[in-house]
Amino acid sequence: MHIDDAIRSRRAVKLYDPAFALSREEKDELLQLAMLAPSAYNLQPVRLVEVSDPQLRAHIREVASNQAQITDASMLVVVCARTDSWEKDAKRVWEGAPQPVRDYMDGAIDAYYRGKPQTQRDEALRSCGLTAQTLMLAARGKGLDSCPMIGFDFDAVGKLINLPENHVIGLMVAVGKQTAEAKPRVGKLSIDEVVIRDRF
Ligand SMILES: Cc1cc2nc3c(=O)[nH]c(=O)nc-3n(C[C@H](O)[C@H](O)[C@H](O)COP(=O)(O)O)c2cc1C
Repeated sequence: MHIDDAIRSRRAVKLYDPAFALSREEKDELLQLAMLAPSAYNLQPVRLVEVSDPQLRAHIREVASNQAQITDASMLVVVCARTDSWEKDAKRVWEGAPQPVRDYMDGAIDAYYRGKPQTQRDEALRSCGLTAQTLMLAARGKGLDSCPMIGFDFDAVGKLINLPENHVIGLMVAVGKQTAEAKPRVGKLSIDEVVIRDRF
């Protein structure tokens, strides 16, 4: 599928065929494509919790307004991110680069994040968004459907997946086969309203 068609035909799909299953290999391929999303300073803070345990899915559904896609989609991913990658991984992710680049990154990363909890959280969540969209487009490119979700109790889902202290949840993404065609898009804003030429 051409990338334009994948973007145009991706919709937030709520009803999935529960009998349709993706294999572990198919899921991993999608997850690996999602992992190619860009991240600030290549820190790759995102952690993808792929929930395949049916009981855990049912518990998540209970704290997510009973949304059917949580149990019925073939794949459910809780897109999380570390807020301390800037401190833990800055050296590791630049190991293959020439020394001057490593030295520069070391200083730049520290200056950008140290003592700035909001920046640390902002970047974690920004990365979650980019990874989630990459996952959804990768899925669409393979003829699959998806749904991004924030309609759930974040604290409750965090407890259910044993979210570590130094992580945040960005959103969840369901992936599978839809059972009905999505209704036509409504309410899309015009290019004149959304695109600002040079300055507000
Ligand atoms: C961050 C985010 C959270 C969303 N949460 C939910 C959700 O919890 N449940 C749901 O059914 N749709 C959810 N949606 C889907 C939006 O309602 C949908 O993307 C929007 O209405 C536009 O429709 P489209 O994606 O089909 O173009 C969410 C979308 C985003 C980006």
